[in-house]
Amino acid sequence: MAEPSRILVVDDELGPREALRLILQDHYEIATAQNGHQALDHLADREFDLVIMDIRMPGINGIDLLAEAKKKAPDTEVVMITAYASVETAASALRHGALDYLIKPFDRKLVLDVVQKGLIRRAESRKIKGRLEELQLVNQSLRHEIERASINIQRHYLETVSSLVAAIDAKDSYTKSHQERVVMFAMLLGAELGLSAGELGVLQQAAVLHDIGKIGVPEQILRKPEHLIPEEFDVIKQHPVIGAEIISPVRFLSEVVSIVLHHHERFNGGGYPDGLKGELIPLGARILAVADAVDAMLSNRPYAPAKTVAQVHEELRRCSGTQFDPQLVRAALKMDLPSRRIR
Ligand SMILES: [Fe+2]
Repeated sequence: MAEPSRILVVDDELGPREALRLILQDHYEIATAQNGHQALDHLADREFDLVIMDIRMPGINGIDLLAEAKKKAPDTEVVMITAYASVETAASALRHGALDYLIKPFDRKLVLDVVQKGLIRRAESRKIKGRLEELQLVNQSLRHEIERASINIQRHYLETVSSLVAAIDAKDSYTKSHQERVVMFAMLLGAELGLSAGELGVLQQAAVLHDIGKIGVPEQILRKPEHLIPEEFDVIKQHPVIGAEIISPVRFLSEVVSIVLHHHERFNGGGYPDGLKGELIPLGARILAVADAVDAMLSNRPYAPAKTVAQVHEELRRCSGTQFDPQLVRAALKMDLPSRRIR
């Protein structure tokens, strides 16, 4: 059997207090208080479904007590008692959140009706509150599910991108070891510039993925041993754009996109795809440009033999401020470069 509803009766006069107890005690659990302070103690101790309180009491009057009770337990229904059917006080009580008012002396049926109405309203508001809490939980778990699904999609996408990198490796054997060394040089340059761990992480991802767009370049152009004709070079020049397009759907690679897109810009604005100049080129892209070129110069390419470390240094100095950011040339000159490499 459900527990009986709990009702608190607050009146400084014994007569009305006991009258209400007699009317209600067969149906409900009743507690009584002689003044506002006692009532607040009761309310602090336990939860009541309904409070019936006199408007005129010494000390804390009914209107103030009503406000306090609503502050402590907003769902608790309150019925006011008044000696006169004063529209003004009744209106004030209702304005402060009381459900209704009873006039002394009490009419038994009216008291039971008003109390029942209050308890029904209390039960309904609790039900609505419970439903709202349930909905909030459902909402929260849906949000978590969406977040998890989105992370999964991104992870799968990244796996796809990684397998694309592997596919390019297969297409152009130069690319794989080149990519690993570009990562290494980029990290050395980033550390020399004092980049944070987070910035180095972004730079590392960009270095891994910088040539991902070569997947869109025909194999005969990628593997061509002779110098490229302008039309072929135009195709090659698309790879940063294609690469940026490939990784742009991956939210956690958002900072990597612009580095990949601009890794062939030149410091003097003569690069591609956008001809960006100086510090308008993202720092990560300026770093990759140097790391990329240093490794290319140290490697035997189809159209040029590997340079010595001294030749690489000379070339870096020659292109400082034109192809490369001068501060990165200074950093690169401090790097301990491996001597001539045979790939
Ligand atoms: Fe590239």
